[in-house]
Amino acid sequence: MKQQLTIALSKGRILKETLPLLAAADIVPAEDIFSSRKLIFDTNHDHIKLVVIRATDVPTYVEYGGADMGIAGKDVLMEHGGAGLYEPLDLEIAKCKLMVAGMKDAAPVEGRMKVATKFVNLTREYFARQGCQVDIIKLYGAMELAPIMGLADRIVDIVDTGNTLRANGLEPMQHIADISSRLVVGQPSMKMKHAVIQPILDQLQRAIDAQREGVA
Ligand code: ATP
Ligand code: PRP
Repeated sequence: MKQQLTIALSKGRILKETLPLLAAADIVPAEDIFSSRKLIFDTNHDHIKLVVIRATDVPTYVEYGGADMGIAGKDVLMEHGGAGLYEPLDLEIAKCKLMVAGMKDAAPVEGRMKVATKFVNLTREYFARQGCQVDIIKLYGAMELAPIMGLADRIVDIVDTGNTLRANGLEPMQHIADISSRLVVGQPSMKMKHAVIQPILDQLQRAIDAQREGVA
């Protein structure tokens, strides 16, 4: 009998782009994830289950072995720190950028800069690398509001089209990283379940290549 395998998927925006890739790797949920309140889903393979959880919880589940592998944005993985995880595949979906932004034409900040973000750890590391000490204000969403309301001088957030920044009178200022969704595998699972994981990695790689050729 094949070893059991659990894959943690991020609900929200990544999920729609994840399912076709999984399907191309012949992993299909047994029922419609979007119309269900379930958190665990059987698939067309007896030995593979999917769990659908918040994006930020995916690396935590995989790190502690609650899931063998998972799919999450690089932003979420950078913020988590990557402990206990291998990151073998860039799925090349949900592409965006992680940027520092502020009010359009804002004057240089005097004194210690206040930065609002939900990415507290990666923001601290980024500014530390720049030799810049900042005060970080943790928010859970709508970061763009913080400079408008005088809560912060800058934000660190995801930028895709730039529409959200523009609509709120902000502009991108510094590029921190290019972001896309990644497949992560728990280090013990990679060793102990290599026989079931490697064929999935190979199939996903082929699906990613086909997806890239499809858009080229
Ligand atoms: P949660 O609300 O559960 O805390 P979230 O709001 O960060 O999570 P989503 O908005 O579903 O979750 O985004 C999931 C991932 O999609 C992000 O981690 C990022 O990698 C990517 N992403 C976020 N915003 C965009 C965007 N505007 N364009 C493209 N990709 C994005
Ligand atoms: C994300 C991100 C930005 C926006 C950027 O928010 O936090 O606000 O997308 O995309 P754009 O550059 O194309 O405008 P999302 O829509 O996920 O809402 P959220 O704040 O609830 O996470």
